[in-house]
Amino acid sequence: MKLRYKISGGILIALALATASLALVLGHTTACGPAPVLSDAAERMKAIVYRCYGSPDILEFTDVEKPTPMDDQILVKVKVASVNPLDWHYMRGLPYIMRLSSGLGAPTDTRLGVDFAGTIEAVGKDVTRFEPGDDVFGGRTGAFAEYIIVPEDRALALKPGNMTFAQAASVPIAGITALQALRDHGKIQPGQKVLINGASGGVGTFAVQIAKSYGAEVTGVCSTRNMDMVRSIGADHVIDYKKENYTESGRRYDLIIDMVGNHPLLANTNVLTPEGTLVMVGGPKGDWLKPLMGPIKALLLSPFMDQEIGIILAQLGPDDMGILGELMQAGKVTPVIDRRYGLSEVPDAIRYSESGRARGKIIIELE
Ligand SMILES: NC(=O)c1ccc[n+]([C@@H]2O[C@H](COP(=O)([O-])OP(=O)(O)OC[C@H]3O[C@@H](n4cnc5c(N)ncnc54)[C@H](OP(=O)(O)O)[C@@H]3O)[C@@H](O)[C@H]2O)c1
Repeated sequence: MKLRYKISGGILIALALATASLALVLGHTTACGPAPVLSDAAERMKAIVYRCYGSPDILEFTDVEKPTPMDDQILVKVKVASVNPLDWHYMRGLPYIMRLSSGLGAPTDTRLGVDFAGTIEAVGKDVTRFEPGDDVFGGRTGAFAEYIIVPEDRALALKPGNMTFAQAASVPIAGITALQALRDHGKIQPGQKVLINGASGGVGTFAVQIAKSYGAEVTGVCSTRNMDMVRSIGADHVIDYKKENYTESGRRYDLIIDMVGNHPLLANTNVLTPEGTLVMVGGPKGDWLKPLMGPIKALLLSPFMDQEIGIILAQLGPDDMGILGELMQAGKVTPVIDRRYGLSEVPDAIRYSESGRARGKIIIELE
């Protein structure tokens, strides 16, 4: 055998072994560990904790140590939190590739939940933008708890006076995702025809309203039971996905924001205008490659296409929280709230989110 065949064969075997080893490491799930013992002196609070990856059954409603803010940090008494699909991706550690950041075998951070609204209880000595008593909303890991610590420069903003805590807690992940998909990736312009696939979900209900606030003509895609709700939040046209496939209608759109990923990439681009944009926000569930196939195809095909294809990974930050606060204060965006649960009922709330049937946002009430 020629030397170059031997070398390429060796490289292929090494690559196959490396891929198999990575798959073994990523796919390994460690059993739930024991709860750490709290000292008698520790001040306690209730929180939802997960010590291993798995179904909502592994979630514990338990006592943990109440945190104390450092100099640049803020302690918020959480009044309401909200659920996102991100929470059950972390809980299950799926797709496995995310365990590279969330922890191999078991989660490195045992606290769950991101979106919250509440009242500031204490601030560190270097904090200047906020003070105790301020009503705020924000995004930070560990929101399914009575208290949360947030550094001052992170995603935190004053709660608009005309919004309830439940409405404000609905906003961070879903609102910022919708805003960044439309504005940063979609470059939305007044008068454009915008289609929102998945218009009745957490992100979709924000996307419909934010697109309207930019002066777009909005088409929402949802099922029969959600058509009235999607119309009520401002959609000019509603397509019932149970009766009509929007990729076969012949109508064209300047911008498609896709939360569902249930149509082939080329079917979506076929109903874009020649200079239109597709923004991929969500896709099918799966343990390994299935959720990644849409973005991979988009990366491979987009250099050969006239239309733009954007893949979003939303970034929580204080500026966009402020913009969403202003949109709510101006009455241009009003969060849509679906079911409400208590903190101890987070496992049920997550089961409902995993069903994929939420209409707007799922709320966790702590008071
Ligand atoms: N890339 C990012 O940074 C980012 C950020 C946030 C979320 N996401 C992802 O975006 C997706 C949406 O998030 P979300 O919070 O909006 O989820 P969600 O609230 O759980 O979405 C549920 C909604 O999807 C609708 N739906 C299901 N199948 C549909 C279909 N075939 N056509 C149209 N609508 C359909 C459901 O309506 P019916 O019950 O009537 O079917 C339901 O109202 C998720 O995959 C999430 O992981 C990504």
